[in-house]
Amino acid sequence: MNDSTENNTATGPTQETVEKPQSRLRAAAEVIAQIPRNAYRSFIRMGYPTEVRQRLAMIVNNWFLHIHSTRVHPYSLRPQFTLGLGLLNLFLFLILLVTGIWLMFYYVPSPDEAYGRMQDFLNVVTFGRVMRNLHRWAAHAMVIAVVLHTCRVFYTAAYKPPREFNWVIGVVLLILTLALSFTGYLLPWDQLSFWAITVGANIIGYAPVLGAKFRLLLLGSDTVGGEALLRFYVLHVALLPTVAAVLIGYHFWRIRKDGGLARPQLKTSGLLKKPEAEVTIPSFPRVLYIEVLFLLLTTALLLLISLYWNAPLEPIADPNQPPNPSKAPWYFLGVQELVSYSAFWGGVVLPTLFVLGLLLLPYLDRDPRGVGVWFAKERMFVMVIWSLVWLVTIIFTVIGVYFRGPIWNFYWPWQNWPGP
Ligand code: HEM
Repeated sequence: MNDSTENNTATGPTQETVEKPQSRLRAAAEVIAQIPRNAYRSFIRMGYPTEVRQRLAMIVNNWFLHIHSTRVHPYSLRPQFTLGLGLLNLFLFLILLVTGIWLMFYYVPSPDEAYGRMQDFLNVVTFGRVMRNLHRWAAHAMVIAVVLHTCRVFYTAAYKPPREFNWVIGVVLLILTLALSFTGYLLPWDQLSFWAITVGANIIGYAPVLGAKFRLLLLGSDTVGGEALLRFYVLHVALLPTVAAVLIGYHFWRIRKDGGLARPQLKTSGLLKKPEAEVTIPSFPRVLYIEVLFLLLTTALLLLISLYWNAPLEPIADPNQPPNPSKAPWYFLGVQELVSYSAFWGGVVLPTLFVLGLLLLPYLDRDPRGVGVWFAKERMFVMVIWSLVWLVTIIFTVIGVYFRGPIWNFYWPWQNWPGP
């Protein structure tokens, strides 16, 4: 007790009445000081996990992380097995979401406004050009990455039981990726987008019975115009991304439920040393660190590309001035090339067979050999068929992109080149 308190007993306030406000103040200060820690603990309930049990709990108790399995097999972590292509798809999808929402703040889906908004976006809005580039290049990259991922899964026979249904989900994701890219193509409302969608919609219209009806449903009219722009916009920014996001989540959940990534019968295959073949390791923190690093690398690379290469914007769409030739988006040019031989066979029969073949593959190929191994010798026959189909698809696409000139005549790409 200090002197001043003693002196105050006769005339002034008591010891309690002096100390009470001080201790209340101290308690309040303590509560305030602890707000960040308590808020953090209310969200993340444990400290940084150092022991194995804590690491497993970290995955189970965290809503964001529990999409991972708690333990992972070292075989699945080998970069040469997955090539990181599934993750690359996920990250490109996320980049597309972020940049797409940014674009939505400025864009108006009407033929009178869309093109002007795109120009404003490129010339007036801060970071507008680079955000549009990011969106466009990520969309093209995702089309390529999703095809490569499909091929990786095929060549490692990862579609075989119990993963058949996840393959089917994947095929739907492949179609959704193309549909997302196709619907986004129209939005700039320039000559390129207008005529690419006109050609693409015509190809859809070739399908018997439902083709014309589906085309009308898609365009909302006989030709590409305001109705089509609005419908493509709603599909592109709301319906398709939502379905894709839900299916991607489901795809990941199925990977867990199917026992992680495909791997060979390790004990018998002798592919790994014995301890490695039997031991799984906690996913946290290694998998998370790999993912974050890969996300940063993907973003950095795409940003670099977007800083140097601008996505094209041609003159405003003019329904009376068709370019010669009018070409569909590049990933449909293989189909357009086929349609130039026969609308029915090229536009309907072969694409339908292609998609049906993809969907049914795991139910047709019941040979259990080769799971989790690249280019297993036992699967030579199916691998040759698969490679031939894709080779032909690529050749037709390249012809459509580079070797078709006015009135769809064959020409050498350098034919009209004025020279240096
Ligand atoms: C938006 C598109 C897609 C995303 C984001 C995605 C993502 C992933 C991821 C992250 C994995 C884990 C392994 C890896 O990174 O490769 C994976 C595995 C798998 N994906 Fe996809 N995927 C997509 C499309 C597809 C497609 C088009 C197919 C097939 C047609 C497919 C079939 C599979 C199968 C069967 C597995 C399990 C593979 C295994 O066990 O080794 N996915 N996917």
